[in-house]
Amino acid sequence: MTTTEIAAVAAIFVLFTATVAFFEAGAANKSDVTNLQSQVSSLESSSSSATHTALQTVAQASQVAPTARHITLVAEPATITLATNVTYDAWTFNGTVPGPTIWANQGDTIVATFVNDFTTMAHSIDFHAGQVSWSADYQPIAPGQSETFNFTVDYPGVFMYHCGTSPAIEHIADGMYGAIIVNSTKPLPPAPGGQYVLVQSEFYLNGKTGADGNYAGNYTKMLEGSPTYVVFNAKANGYVAKPLPVLPNQLVRLFILNAGPNEWSAFHVIGALLNTTYIDGNPANAEYGLQTLNIPPSGGAIVDMYFRDPGGKNPFVTHQFEFVPKGDEGIFLVGGATSTTSTTSTSSAAAAEVHVSIPQGSEVNTAGPGYAPATITVVIGVNNTVQWTNNDVAPHTVTAVDKNFDSGEMNTGDTFTYTFTTPGTYQYGCAYHPWMQGTVIVKAAP
Ligand code: CU
Ligand code: CU
Repeated sequence: MTTTEIAAVAAIFVLFTATVAFFEAGAANKSDVTNLQSQVSSLESSSSSATHTALQTVAQASQVAPTARHITLVAEPATITLATNVTYDAWTFNGTVPGPTIWANQGDTIVATFVNDFTTMAHSIDFHAGQVSWSADYQPIAPGQSETFNFTVDYPGVFMYHCGTSPAIEHIADGMYGAIIVNSTKPLPPAPGGQYVLVQSEFYLNGKTGADGNYAGNYTKMLEGSPTYVVFNAKANGYVAKPLPVLPNQLVRLFILNAGPNEWSAFHVIGALLNTTYIDGNPANAEYGLQTLNIPPSGGAIVDMYFRDPGGKNPFVTHQFEFVPKGDEGIFLVGGATSTTSTTSTSSAAAAEVHVSIPQGSEVNTAGPGYAPATITVVIGVNNTVQWTNNDVAPHTVTAVDKNFDSGEMNTGDTFTYTFTTPGTYQYGCAYHPWMQGTVIVKAAP
């Protein structure tokens, strides 16, 4: 395998932000961006060398074999920060708005446990990805009670889940929603330029704070459809303050959900076109070259796109401009040159982290590499910090063969971060599971 090929395989999985993927425990990290978990299937579109073929076989197996994914969503109140000095009494799943992003593969069975941790209010759960009896599974659950039910995810896509308890407008506007993203059995091409989950939603605030110093939802404003804030991932202008890094001239993938409850999204990126849009996130629904994407309340999309100019900034907004001053704007920060030559310095762009997932099933999947991607290439000064996340239900480690780095025991959801400063090839593995092996190739600064 040539260096370029290695880089291509590695790049499939290069991700930039904290993972909120959660499976058994339901203990989600607070994070405003959610990463794509390992998309091993993407290997299929890589080159066809013998090594790739071997990787591909493993990847295919772990991609298409339907599995049971146990998830737990807990309805609980939480204080969230919508803007500077604006805290809000939210109703949440697992303490965050949006709730944790749930990742699955088409054909999987979701074993969903829903717990209502409120003391006085009934809540419910509604998965748009499921096909079940509303009257059996989506009914309000009394405070302190729980339910468990199963459904298969038959369609790929970016789907909403939410509380549907009446009045649903209030339960959604107060924060009870999230995304469940189902990877297609027909994989999309790799997106090494960066992958993000963006959830647009509205908040409707009372004019004054309550005794706790927080704002609460205003039901009249919800019904009138006059939002105080319209935001991505529940933070007004959050990604203006903290732009999202992407790589130039590499495919960038956005998983977008419009949680509403009321407003359409006219998703638009300034200075870029939407190369390929998969309506509702289903690869069968492809549209090309859109300037603005129409996403209804509860609708989703996958957007694949490119940023041409290294070192630049490209804002993203809803082109319904009344909402931009209400917080519905962010910025993509395009990194410096990567494989293509350019005169732009990389120093202005924050060095990106590369993310590696320990996928669910690594404990038992002796055919799998245990790390996704198993081989990554990083460049000093560009993306030489690597973060591993244990998305399996069992403990694992990230341990260098030469013992130069060692995570120690990582339990479910734990992360380990290491910054490589010396060029070379580093082999590592799991201290508990010998079939888990990975490689980090570190290159000198460009
Ligand atoms: Cu609710
Ligand atoms: Cu292990």
